[in-house]
Amino acid sequence: MKRVLTYGTYDLLHYGHINLLKRARALGDYLIVAISTDEFNKNMKNKVCVQSYEERKTILESLRFVDLVIPEENWEQKINDVKLYHVDTFCMGSDWEGKFDFLKEYCEVVYLPRTEGISTTQRKGQVIQMFSTPKIS
Ligand code: CTP
Repeated sequence: MKRVLTYGTYDLLHYGHINLLKRARALGDYLIVAISTDEFNKNMKNKVCVQSYEERKTILESLRFVDLVIPEENWEQKINDVKLYHVDTFCMGSDWEGKFDFLKEYCEVVYLPRTEGISTTQRKGQVIQMFSTPKIS
């Protein structure tokens, strides 16, 4: 069995995420998704999520191409996770190109092209704009 591992926040799941996860799963037979905990997001990534860790985990676990969801609690856990879960392929979107090449010592490292024109940040901005536009009646 070929195991694939990927990391991310996955707040307000969108089709860019789905595209990434489907292609990641297609690289092997078992997909593990490590999602940033709320503490890690707040303290280390300066991100505040709309959905809590438990909500994001429940949503990702319900996808047929995701096999296991684990917490991402720090930047340093990747080598340990690769060993612990017997990972064959580590995969991230192309916005992370080159950043995780140090893992090549332990497994294959693949960067998949990011889906253009969508992100959680962009979606949050869209919602804010939609609801802050004055109504003309
Ligand atoms: N991703 C992607 N295409 C997009 C958005 C994200 O392939 N349009 C990928 C990222 O490269 C990463 C994974 O999805 O491998 C999780 O990304 P995440 O940071 O959670 O999503 P973003 O939408 O980029 O969130 P934000 O705007 O908060 O940075």
